[in-house]
Amino acid sequence: MCGIIGYVGKDKKSLHVLINGLKNLEYRGYDSAGIALKDNKKIKIIKAKGKIKNLEEKVKNGIETNIGIGHTRWATHGKATEINAHPHRVGSVTIVHNGIIENYIEIKNKLLKEGYSFNSETDSEVACALIDKIYKEEQDKLKTLKKVNKELKGSYAFAIIFEDDNKLYAMRKDSPLIIGVGKNENYLASDVPAILEFTNKYILLDKNEYAIVSKTNINIYDSKLQKIEKSINTYEATREQAMKNDYEHFMLKEINDEPLAFEELLKQFNLNNIDELTNSMPSLEKYENIDIVGCGSAYHAGLIGKSIIEKYADIPVNVEIASEYRYKKNFNNEKTLTILISQSGETADTLAALRKVKEKGYDTLGIINTVDSSIARESDNVLYIKAGCEISVATTKAYSAQVLILTLIALVIANNKKTLNKNEINNILKDIKMLPSNIKTEINKQEQCKEIANKLYKAKDIFFIGRGIDYALCMEGSLKLKEISYIHSESYAAGELKHGTISLIEEQTPVIAIVTDSSISEKTMSNIKEVKARGAKVVLITTNKILNKYKESHIYDAFITIEDISPVIHPLHVATLLQLIAYYVAKEKGLDIDKPRNLAKSVTVE
Ligand code: AGP
Ligand code: GLU
Repeated sequence: MCGIIGYVGKDKKSLHVLINGLKNLEYRGYDSAGIALKDNKKIKIIKAKGKIKNLEEKVKNGIETNIGIGHTRWATHGKATEINAHPHRVGSVTIVHNGIIENYIEIKNKLLKEGYSFNSETDSEVACALIDKIYKEEQDKLKTLKKVNKELKGSYAFAIIFEDDNKLYAMRKDSPLIIGVGKNENYLASDVPAILEFTNKYILLDKNEYAIVSKTNINIYDSKLQKIEKSINTYEATREQAMKNDYEHFMLKEINDEPLAFEELLKQFNLNNIDELTNSMPSLEKYENIDIVGCGSAYHAGLIGKSIIEKYADIPVNVEIASEYRYKKNFNNEKTLTILISQSGETADTLAALRKVKEKGYDTLGIINTVDSSIARESDNVLYIKAGCEISVATTKAYSAQVLILTLIALVIANNKKTLNKNEINNILKDIKMLPSNIKTEINKQEQCKEIANKLYKAKDIFFIGRGIDYALCMEGSLKLKEISYIHSESYAAGELKHGTISLIEEQTPVIAIVTDSSISEKTMSNIKEVKARGAKVVLITTNKILNKYKESHIYDAFITIEDISPVIHPLHVATLLQLIAYYVAKEKGLDIDKPRNLAKSVTVE
């Protein structure tokens, strides 16, 4: 998703800050980029289609100034062209924008009648013209922004420069924007990692707030234009934690970070025994059912959570894709806990789903990675997964950490409902405490994963089959593979194949079968025989115990096993193997693993 950066300071270094800030935002995904450098009354705008290096080419002998704004665009209105790239300038106003202006056509038609003309196809340029028009009428910048905010419908974060002063102006509704606090210099950015090399001090700009930022002052105003005081936060992760270290890709680094991520997550809770764990979590006593809402991998983590919570805590869990949930009839009530899962905490659909539940006054819990993100701040309660900065677009450690925290929630509810005795739960907690070290055994199976990847990377279609919790794992394995290797893949409930899709299985079709639930392994093995009989090449991901039962059967062409640990932790071990297999398939294909085409790390538009 797009990225915003802004700089104002006593030093002439806006070009350096903007270009490096935009590079730090590349992981969010984009298709064009641009900067605006202000030198007294002169504003120079340089834009380029494609990667930031194309923009760098154009500014390599550029002027350094004291103030500027920059943008990486993820096109929503108008193709990814140089003209549609930001910044946009109309009259005395220059802006960069993240989000979607839903009523831009109506505003554009009015402005055209008033003599405005437009160069780009974007909604953002229309917003810029609206600011210019209202500023000409009001001659007061804050009042202008308030009036603009009232007229616009949709989602936005703006960084704005006016020709007649040397300050940055910012306003946001549903897209993220923070203010970086420096010494005789200040910043605007979509997130803190973008400016970590300059400062780790930041102020959160909340919905419908306005900021006026000079090199020495940061003034923030509420929706009524009353000046308000905001705390200055310190971003916990350091830049090196966000850097690749000596890994070839952030994705591989982040898979290898899983032991640390799990350790950081578990440190927040008291795991001595289930009663102490229960007391170290928000109270879950009163809920009779749970809704889990998320997108992509967050949704898949929710499906794992459903299996574990229903199995161990015996309460119904409904898992929904946020972009569906927000528009459909929901059946929640005051006895429902709605859990919103989001790594970025800025996913537009998940944020909208949260607001829908809150409008009804029902309880919400965020399971979030990014501290102080919109979903974290607006949820009634939040459990941070503490996975650290996740740069690679394809989530790994954050997905696994989401599954881990859902597992803890399942055990707490099981304790509250007494569906498991304390001794059983405390034994599971012992395995969970060992997870940060045990998961290393899976991470160390990279050679086996590479061998499997070698069998898969030339395939055109790959099938994942499994039952129950293994089917939920198939969905995540399939998504991981698709999003970074661009190989078409489908995840299928193993028992469902013969109801149609098995017609697609032919000689050499790769089928990855996940079988970790021994209570239904027999059934899935029958499904494996069915695809084998039609020529499929089967990769079996299973436990040592299950494998031993089928070693002689030769119903698989390759296998990889997870360590024999408590079944409640099987998903986490399988997930790491699926992540590594997807990684090595994409690596075999020589693809841009951390920044796959068309994708963004945080989808802040609908
Ligand atoms: C995961 O690999 C994808 N990049 C994507 O599906 C992601 O999980 C989804 O966009 C949700 O993002 P969030 O967790 O930040 O809300
Ligand atoms: N809607 C704007 C455009 O298409 C901004 C998209 C973004 O958030 O990058 O230019």
